[in-house]
Amino acid sequence: MNATEDSEVKLAEMWSVSGQLLHTPAYRARHAGLLAAALGDRDAAILDAACGTGFPLLELIGLGFRHLTGSDADPDLLARCRQRLAAYPRLRARQPRLIEASWQQLPDRIAETFANVLCVDAAIGFMDSWVTGEMRQGPANIFARVTEVLRNFHAVTAPGGRFFIGLQKNNHKGNRFYPMKVGAMELDGITAEAHWHMTYDWERRIKTWRNIVRVGAREFTQTRHSYLFDLDELAGFLRDAGFARVARLPTPDDLYEDILVAHRAG
Ligand SMILES: C[S@@+](CC[C@H](N)C(=O)[O-])C[C@H]1O[C@@H](n2cnc3c(N)ncnc32)[C@H](O)[C@@H]1O
Repeated sequence: MNATEDSEVKLAEMWSVSGQLLHTPAYRARHAGLLAAALGDRDAAILDAACGTGFPLLELIGLGFRHLTGSDADPDLLARCRQRLAAYPRLRARQPRLIEASWQQLPDRIAETFANVLCVDAAIGFMDSWVTGEMRQGPANIFARVTEVLRNFHAVTAPGGRFFIGLQKNNHKGNRFYPMKVGAMELDGITAEAHWHMTYDWERRIKTWRNIVRVGAREFTQTRHSYLFDLDELAGFLRDAGFARVARLPTPDDLYEDILVAHRAG
C-alpha cells in the first residue's frame, strides 16, 4: 500500500472524501431535518458560516429555505460547493450567495445581519488551524480567542436572532484517545474508507485529529489540531460573547455533534 504523508495532499481533498463518508445521504437528511424543524420560517435570512462543500446549506435549500447565504474561509471547499450547486438544477434555481470569509473577518466581510446563523458540522475548534493561522497556546489564551471569534458570530446575528453551533460529541473530558471508523463506500467506482484517530490534551486544550483515508490501494493521512473544549464550556463562551441565552438542541446519539442554540437579545 502506498502511504502519502500529510503535506502532499490538500486538506480540502482529504475532507471531500472523509466528509462524504461521514455525511451519508441518511445522515444529511436527519441532520438537516432536525435543523429545519428548529429553524422554522422558510423566509428568514440564514447564514451558513461553515458551509464548506455545502452541508447543510444545500440540504436546507432542498427543504425549501429561500434566503440562504453560505460562507467559508476555504476557497477549495467553496469551489466544490459551487460544483455541487451546478450539478443540481433544482438547487441552482435558488442560487445562494457564497462568500469567502473567515469567522475572524465576518462583520467586515458581511455587512448585514441574519435571523439565523449556523456554524455546525463540528467546525468551531478549527478556527485557527483549518485554513491558516497561528494557534493560540495555553488555556487562557485559547478561551479568550474562542470568545473573541464568537463575538463575530454575535455581530452577524440579528437582534432577536439565533446562532446554531455544533460541537463534536466526543469532546468530553472522559476522552483521551478516540478511534473512529468514519465509513466506507464506493466513490467513482473505487472503495474509499476513512478512520479518524483523535487524541485529547485537556491540559493544553489541544485536540489532535489524524485523518486516515484509503482510496483503493492507496492510503493518505493527515494530522490537524483544533482547540479543545466541552459543551458546557462552549455555552459559557457564548454567554461571554454577548448571547443572552443558550439552549441545547437535542440530537440523536448517532449524529456526530451536539448543537447549542444561542439567542441574541432583541
Ligand atoms: C468540519 S468542516 C465542515 C465542512 C462543511 N460542513 C462541509 O460540508 O464541507 C469545517 C469547516 O469550517 C471551515 N473553517 C474552519 N475554520 C474557519 C474559519 N476560521 N473561518 C471560516 N471557516 C472556517 C472549514 O473551511 C471547513 O469548511
